[in-house]
Amino acid sequence: MKTFALHFLCTLSLIGSLLAQDAKPTVLITGANRGLGLEFAKQFAAKGYHVIGTARSPEKATELKATGSEVVKLDVTSEQDIADLAESLQGRRLDILLNNAGYFGPTLSVGKGKANIHNLTREEMLNCFKVNTMGPIFITQALLPNLKRSKSPKIINISTRSSQLSVRPGKAWGYSVSKTGVNMVTWNLHGELTKKGFVVISLAPGHNKTDMGTQRAKLTPQESIGKMIPLIENLTKKDSGKFWYYDGSILPW
Ligand SMILES: NC(=O)c1ccc[n+]([C@@H]2O[C@H](COP(=O)([O-])OP(=O)(O)OC[C@H]3O[C@@H](n4cnc5c(N)ncnc54)[C@H](OP(=O)(O)O)[C@@H]3O)[C@@H](O)[C@H]2O)c1
Repeated sequence: MKTFALHFLCTLSLIGSLLAQDAKPTVLITGANRGLGLEFAKQFAAKGYHVIGTARSPEKATELKATGSEVVKLDVTSEQDIADLAESLQGRRLDILLNNAGYFGPTLSVGKGKANIHNLTREEMLNCFKVNTMGPIFITQALLPNLKRSKSPKIINISTRSSQLSVRPGKAWGYSVSKTGVNMVTWNLHGELTKKGFVVISLAPGHNKTDMGTQRAKLTPQESIGKMIPLIENLTKKDSGKFWYYDGSILPW
């Protein structure tokens, strides 16, 4: 009898906490354990959102946990992780999906100079595509049932000015090509989903001081995310299918 009562109370408290989460707007941020993803998690949580932050190694995501976010394991290149994520979120509403996890390539860390047509490898191009282009496609696909539960679902694909066809060529091959790819993902999702009430955009955060952006960057994540969150919150149907800059201006594809 005692065990039954305990089980009943635990179930009640679980239902209570799920209902409390459901009352808040919910945002899921990939790659939320460091860099821009972590700052997004901090600022969304501070604004009263329920934040689901993903990390490849949740056990090491101490700063993310400290934001009060729900932390979920996700390698964006893993079919199994994506399927597990979708299953764990079954029946729950998602208002904003922020495809933030990104991979720049080895040019920063290996120190052999910039990637160029002579030293590019298939493996490296594939790594960039798997994280930066295919990740957002298949995470979006898996989480569509959750997004459809929202009255105004938003999909935000974090891109970069290096993806633009008008920038100086030859910069970070795999990164720039795969981010141009994610802009087309935005465009296709916009084409398919706006009639169902979705807003889908690409968003370039500017050059930020993170592991990827290095300390040479001008912007701090606090500054740029302080501008991007109100931008995301104020998006309406007419803003969908566009490439936004963190400061609220529109970039050419
Ligand atoms: N910083 C800039 O100046 C800048 C400029 C333009 C665009 N961006 C874009 O902004 C986004 C965030 O960049 P950032 O500067 O915060 O980069 P960062 O400091 O290098 O952090 C990258 C994040 O992505 C995660 N990630 C990488 N590969 C992953 C994978 N296979 N599965 C799941 N997560 C993975 C990392 O997780 P681990 O910790 O497990 O590696 C980390 O959480 C990226 O899309 C980037 O392209 C950044």
